[in-house]
Amino acid sequence: MRSEQNLLQDVLKKEEFEVYISEEDIHRRTKELGRQIADDYEGRVPIFVGVLNGSFIFLADLIREVPIDCEIDFLKISSYGDEKISSGNVSLLKALDCEIEDRDLIVVEDIVDSGLSIQYMRKIITAMKPRSLKFVTLLLKERDNSIAAPIDYVGFRIPDKFVIGYGLDYKQKLRNLRAIYIEKESNVE
Ligand code: IMP
Ligand code: MG
Repeated sequence: MRSEQNLLQDVLKKEEFEVYISEEDIHRRTKELGRQIADDYEGRVPIFVGVLNGSFIFLADLIREVPIDCEIDFLKISSYGDEKISSGNVSLLKALDCEIEDRDLIVVEDIVDSGLSIQYMRKIITAMKPRSLKFVTLLLKERDNSIAAPIDYVGFRIPDKFVIGYGLDYKQKLRNLRAIYIEKESNVE
């Protein structure tokens, strides 16, 4: 049977990654975040907004840990393409479908890096007059120059290195890894 290690080795012939957050740790932390969100939104019906593509796995796991009525929608913004560094430009590729005026919105991100994506979404969503707007991210890269603050719910704070797996891609692949892998020291440019 093919394992997660096979998948990594087949696709990443030269690059080296190592497990950074295990499947168990992701699920433990997701449960904690879910409980916290359920407490904070008791009596309300929030809309979870998944940011495509990266957050679809985290969103799916997170909402199953939030035992209150909720809805979901998705938006898609431009990504890094096949590069590891952000182009610095963010644009909207798919808008929200639902009516969000006077609703409680929780935007779900896989990872916040420069903060440009969050800043962009905050601007376009605020213009649609939701009742409230909060952000949850599984991973927050520790960078001096991030413009993301404040993020309301953070799963893990991680160093400023490239990570893959659990929804996060490298050249569009490896989103299906169960754990989160980090680029080894020697590979950081
Ligand atoms: P930001 O706009 O710089 O905060 O970038 C956020 C987006 O870039 C995330 O939603 C990811 O799609 C992508 N991204 C940032 N860092 C990584 C990484 O280490 N691995 C994979 N994707 C990343
Ligand atoms: Mg993303």
